[in-house]
Amino acid sequence: MTKSTRSKRAYVETYGCQMNISDGELMEGILTNSGFEIVEGPENADVVLVNTCAIREHAENRVLGRVAQLNGLKRERPELVIGVTGCMAQRMGETLFERAPYVDLVMGPDGYRGLPDALENLEEYRTNRESRSSVRGPQLAILDLSLGENYQGLEQRRTEGPTAWIPIQRGCNHRCTFCIVPYVRGPEKNRDPLEILNEVRDLVTRGVTEVTLLGQTVNSYTFADLSFPNLLSEIAQVEGIRRVRFTSPHPNDVTPELVEVMATEPAVCEHLHLPAQSGNNRTLKRMLRRYTVEILLEKVEMVRAEIPEIALSTDIIVAFPGETDDEFRDTLELMKTVRFDEAFTYKYSAREGTPATRLPADQFVPPREAQARLEELIGVSRGIRAEVNAGEVGRTDEVLIERVARNPGQILGRTRRNKVVAFNGDSVRIGCYTQVMLETTTGATFAGREIGQPELVGGT
Ligand code: SAH
Ligand code: F3S
Repeated sequence: MTKSTRSKRAYVETYGCQMNISDGELMEGILTNSGFEIVEGPENADVVLVNTCAIREHAENRVLGRVAQLNGLKRERPELVIGVTGCMAQRMGETLFERAPYVDLVMGPDGYRGLPDALENLEEYRTNRESRSSVRGPQLAILDLSLGENYQGLEQRRTEGPTAWIPIQRGCNHRCTFCIVPYVRGPEKNRDPLEILNEVRDLVTRGVTEVTLLGQTVNSYTFADLSFPNLLSEIAQVEGIRRVRFTSPHPNDVTPELVEVMATEPAVCEHLHLPAQSGNNRTLKRMLRRYTVEILLEKVEMVRAEIPEIALSTDIIVAFPGETDDEFRDTLELMKTVRFDEAFTYKYSAREGTPATRLPADQFVPPREAQARLEELIGVSRGIRAEVNAGEVGRTDEVLIERVARNPGQILGRTRRNKVVAFNGDSVRIGCYTQVMLETTTGATFAGREIGQPELVGGT
């Protein structure tokens, strides 16, 4: 068979968290560097990679549906390579080939460096197969979780824009009993700060002014004797960086040192994600979260005392096995006490292999009850969010314009406190900072009006 001369086209479709979005960019970078062209859809691609999430069963079912759909393309073009990468690939491993026989490649998060080789191996095998005329192609599973893989030297392919995600840590050393992450991403590995800082400086030259540092417990980052607060302050001081965010911190590592850097470095934004998970001490203990409600509330007080403007968001799980109705009510109480600006709420989802799945079967909360708790929690947290946001109408805040809004003629951006605002404006202004008065709120987002002259950034 003659090799085609055009470069191969790859399409990466990402599901899940910011770390996964960032990994998707990493895979695109690795593929670009080895000669692939990245395309924006599966139709014309030679290789389609579905970059997956394993955090809840629902996320995995969506992917299985999507891969089956992609098999439709493969029926028309049998040479299409379908790969499943990321956390679900790691979790399911070769069993994915049984569930979805049309998948050619399964690759966990520590395998990305070897992506071009893996694709080449598949291609070679297929070429040889033609002469051997075997019925089905090879399937390749790359699932090693490697302490040695520090992702050093790998470059992300970033879409142009004023904001960028920067992974500074991978994996997790905690073992929250509901969570699959430590099993699919391995133990915590922190990146060399010199490389991180170089990347930040490089991003500045490409027009980035806002960076978000990523890690599973991002604030437990350490490298030699450099702590997370040290790194945060160094990044905040890079010339040209105007905003720094980070996610997700673990409450236990929200220390006075961190709060001091947040309070004193002008670039660090007034927003903190503080995943509480539950408002009940017995549940927190059984989740192995390693803090109590009292400790969490102390953290909230400390942060609010030092940074009165701080906006707080959280993650909550309802119906953890064994959670009683009273214990669930404690979570509602916590919401009312703290009044988070935003809450991401989830129904417990059993993840095979995690300790919580081994709790006695009769402790599992019936689905209807779990759904009722979730709906009640959503009602309470949205109500609080609407009240908090209504109280902010009339403020004038700095907004970084990120993209065009859904309404024609409008653009959309975020305040330092992570509130989304839409207002009249032209898309040429994406990347600019401007002052916007928050005029109305839907409860979740704002509509605003620009005050004064728009400011241009990046020396333009
Ligand atoms: N530290 C990580 C946590 C990742 S999971 C981070 O970067 O945010 C994100 C959120 O998903 C968790 O905070 C938790 O609220 C939720 N979650 C994790 N495992 C879950 C499960 N088995 N069922 C339901 N929700 C879960
Ligand atoms: Fe998961 Fe807990 Fe780590 S939620 S990512 S095991 S801190």
